[in-house]
Amino acid sequence: MSTTRCIGILTAGGDCPGLNAAIRGVAKSVLSRGIKVIGIQDGFRGLVENRMVALEDKDVSGILTHGGTYLGSSRDKPHKMNMGGKTMDMTAVALDNLKRNHIDCLVCLGGNGTQKNAMRLHTAGGIDVVTLPKTIDNDVAETDITFGFDSAMTIATEAIDRLHTTATSHHRVIVCEVMGHSAGWLALGAGIAGGADVILIPEIPYDIEIVLRHLRERRQNHKRFSIIAVAEGACSKEETAAPSAKSRKKKDGQVRMTTDGQLLVQEPKASRLAREIQQTSGIEVRVTSLGHVQRGGSPTPTDRLLCTRLGAKAGEAIAAGNFNLMIAVRGEECVTIPLERVAGITKCIPPEHQWIQTAVSIGTCLGDTIK
Ligand code: F6P
Repeated sequence: MSTTRCIGILTAGGDCPGLNAAIRGVAKSVLSRGIKVIGIQDGFRGLVENRMVALEDKDVSGILTHGGTYLGSSRDKPHKMNMGGKTMDMTAVALDNLKRNHIDCLVCLGGNGTQKNAMRLHTAGGIDVVTLPKTIDNDVAETDITFGFDSAMTIATEAIDRLHTTATSHHRVIVCEVMGHSAGWLALGAGIAGGADVILIPEIPYDIEIVLRHLRERRQNHKRFSIIAVAEGACSKEETAAPSAKSRKKKDGQVRMTTDGQLLVQEPKASRLAREIQQTSGIEVRVTSLGHVQRGGSPTPTDRLLCTRLGAKAGEAIAAGNFNLMIAVRGEECVTIPLERVAGITKCIPPEHQWIQTAVSIGTCLGDTIK
């Protein structure tokens, strides 16, 4: 049995639909067992800056359907935090704030970075941690699915559907850039669901000649439009072979404001690809980059259900005194996985994955000759 009397809960990394549903699931599940809940604002930054609010049942009512995270989020890491322009290790301060607020277990809702940061806090200070797998990228290890993925895939699929009708009317090729960091789950899932003709993912470096041949063949077969779903991390064979491939993958397509207010614009993956196709083939190409639209709005019913199940399971684990684990999905079940098996591992699409076989079977071009 657990001796936990108070948990802290935070949401870290990029937001996604379902975070509020998960906060609600965890909070309701532990509150009903007489355990107190403290909400920590803006991820690990709020933990270091001691910005916390007590959460009661009324505070988590009515948030199931809301997008974003009402606790706020940030990409800050306790061991490498920007404090007034200086990067500092704030681990000791984070641990001290947990103690001062009588928090015996920290629940972290986040993606790969968050799993690592939770693990680091546990290793450094012995604090009990429980994590939930959140990200639209679906790239967290040891779980079949992350929450937020279904909502983002729904948005991306709807976008591809809409691009189809306009591409058909104008006989164009439209390149649609989909998020996913260094994994192709979102592009492949939405690409198949939306019927994209070409799907390019980071796991399969593409050959531009194969893509061009596929587009030409479609024209010859009187299909006068084509949709290309490209993951933001997808790279051509040449780019993959280049020594700077890793750093470029991270920066591709991002528009950011630097701390001194400069706008940093990198040409999106999709624009470069479109330019190459138009110049080589003469076919009219247009580009749509879905960007943060994919992370906005209300979670789908599938994500609401998943978040509630994961939250309830977290509450059960805490009440039973099981810590230092991530709540994962395996088949029909929510299970607990030791955190050290998750932290630091990115789950990319395995070559033999059924989604890849499915795409190949129906003649979708993946930019390479795959049997
Ligand atoms: O990890 C989620 C994600 O949306 C990725 O798909 C994307 O590469 C990244 O976050 C964008 O990050 P930011 O919110 O910092 O622009």
